[in-house]
Amino acid sequence: MPANRVVPLVGRESLGGDFFLLSFEHPEVAREAAPGQFVMIKAGLSAEPPLRRPFSILSVDVPAARFTLFVKAVGQGSRALCALGVGASAQCLGPLGRPFSSPPPGVAALLVAGGYGVAPLRFMAQRLEGGEARLFYGGRSAADLPLLERLRGLPLSIVPATEDGSLGERGRVTAPLEDQLAVTHGRAMLYACGPEAMLHAVARLAHARGLEAEVSLDPWMGCGVGTCLGCVVRVQGAEEARPKYRCACTEGPVFDAARVVWPGEDNSRSRRQALEAGRGAGAPA
Ligand SMILES: Cc1cc2nc3c(=O)[nH]c(=O)nc-3n(C[C@H](O)[C@H](O)[C@H](O)COP(=O)(O)OP(=O)(O)OC[C@H]3O[C@@H](n4cnc5c(N)ncnc54)[C@H](O)[C@@H]3O)c2cc1C
Ligand code: FES
Repeated sequence: MPANRVVPLVGRESLGGDFFLLSFEHPEVAREAAPGQFVMIKAGLSAEPPLRRPFSILSVDVPAARFTLFVKAVGQGSRALCALGVGASAQCLGPLGRPFSSPPPGVAALLVAGGYGVAPLRFMAQRLEGGEARLFYGGRSAADLPLLERLRGLPLSIVPATEDGSLGERGRVTAPLEDQLAVTHGRAMLYACGPEAMLHAVARLAHARGLEAEVSLDPWMGCGVGTCLGCVVRVQGAEEARPKYRCACTEGPVFDAARVVWPGEDNSRSRRQALEAGRGAGAPA
């Protein structure tokens, strides 16, 4: 069981709407965190409310012993965090979970973010050393992309897209991704975090082009450490006859997109067929 860490809030910034940047101080969390990992955190030092909430790590500043979260206030736990004053403390477990893997040398990293799903990908961009990287950042409207201007200093090109056309390209973020894939010629790895439908679309695009993709899932999480089983997701490898349930908190939240059993997909059958057709373990169904 990871230790409970008391983390003082050292920076709080409203980004407008329900979005906040919250920076906490803790040297080990800042030092140990890897892109794609998350913390289970709750405001205050009391035992109530009992459940912590999961939030991806947006960035770390190791010399300053700080880590920052990008929080959309949607309910009791996230609102309490966003209402903390600088100097107040939260309780946190983490960093937790399986991080994103690094792209092989010479392979472009294509990052696909929907809404607050930009958080782990911003951290990923911070850690990418050299190489080509591009972020496709989508939301319903401009108000869903409050981090856009702050991402401009990172060493990657950014392609914003909004469904209402109020910022960047009009339509789903997977449309400019598809255009990019048409000219990438197989030297790319995809990383995605956002709504499930977007992740599924990214998985399909990757599969159609024989590319590797990693997706960060965000099921409901109660404990974050593999004991409550509230976060199970179905996964299935190409070599496996049946799907298995896996805890997203310990075996994820980052999964190989080809292993995720997406809603409505008959993976068992299609995976067996792919295997029988001799396409091998690298061929996601
Ligand atoms: C691994 C992981 C990383 C996450 N990273 C971030 C992040 O970086 N920034 C961020 O703002 N949020 C993130 N979330 C979502 C965040 O955990 C939830 O918004 C939060 O738990 C809601 O708690 P609450 O008490 O404020 O709201 P609740 O009262 O629990 O719920 C309020 C509303 O939010 C909905 N909701 C709750 N959890 C989720 C969820 N996981 N996905 C979609 N809707 C949900 C509920 O259905 C309800 O309608 C992440 C979730 C996971 C699993
Ligand atoms: S959140 Fe409890 S087992 Fe994953």
